[in-house]
Amino acid sequence: MTAIRIDGKAMAEVVRNEVAEGVARLKAEHGITPGLAVVLVGEDPASQVYVRNKVKQTEACGMRSFHHVLDRETSRDQLMTLIDRLNTDDQVHGILVQLPLPDHLNSKDVIEAIDPAKDVDGFHTRNVGTLWTGGSSFVPCTPLGCLKLLKSVEPEIAGKHAVVIGRSNIVGRPMAALLLNESATVTMAHSKTADLPALCRQADILVAAVGRPQMVKSDWIKPGAIVLDVGINRIPTEDGKGRLVGDVDFDDVATVAGAITPVPGGPGPMTIACLLANTLQAAKRSYID
Ligand code: GUN
Repeated sequence: MTAIRIDGKAMAEVVRNEVAEGVARLKAEHGITPGLAVVLVGEDPASQVYVRNKVKQTEACGMRSFHHVLDRETSRDQLMTLIDRLNTDDQVHGILVQLPLPDHLNSKDVIEAIDPAKDVDGFHTRNVGTLWTGGSSFVPCTPLGCLKLLKSVEPEIAGKHAVVIGRSNIVGRPMAALLLNESATVTMAHSKTADLPALCRQADILVAAVGRPQMVKSDWIKPGAIVLDVGINRIPTEDGKGRLVGDVDFDDVATVAGAITPVPGGPGPMTIACLLANTLQAAKRSYID
């Protein structure tokens, strides 16, 4: 391996400590305790793990956590009633509805019902529009974490060619917007892109967010490129427990890249840290506005 290993776990701890200090200051100076409401509908096991970690880390940095677990049969009206209540609750500064939602609930509808000032996921169209027009808004947590990891190894992003593989609303699209706002030249690649390996070989910065285990290989990489791996995929192992891998073949790509994030321990831990940072920001804005 020749690449620098970008340590998302260590950096997430730094961000969490900064948030905890900010929370303590907000309490001492303004008597405000930031509060995050997390809503989970149904029993998706991966979502349950994510939500549990979010609740634990919210409390660990001194914030209030409001955890709402709803039955998988919850109706649209019931969910909307809860969101309305959270929108008007002064103790709640951030609202997160864990995705994916069960099929009978339209996630777009639900996201649009969240007060944009409490939309710490940055998924509401008002926040998406602000991000794409270069303004200051809540930025989705995974791409925000990726940008912080990128800046830790490359402070000069302007003029670099960034290729983002994946066009989801949660990662790919906001990642492209963030890189564009940093004056990178951005190419968005997706399942219909022709000759993806050749395109990736042009990238100074490569972000993989497609959910295809170890798809990106060393012959896709420009020597010295920075590779950010957002994929979290479980692959089978002989002992039956499975193993987490990213969208990038880490051992192979690390022989060519300049810097690379591991899985686990890359963008994953940064996502929750950035959620906490967004919640603190929402609480600060609530007394300024
Ligand atoms: N599901 C997977 N990632 C996310 C995220 O960042 N926010 C929400 N709300 N749901 C998710």
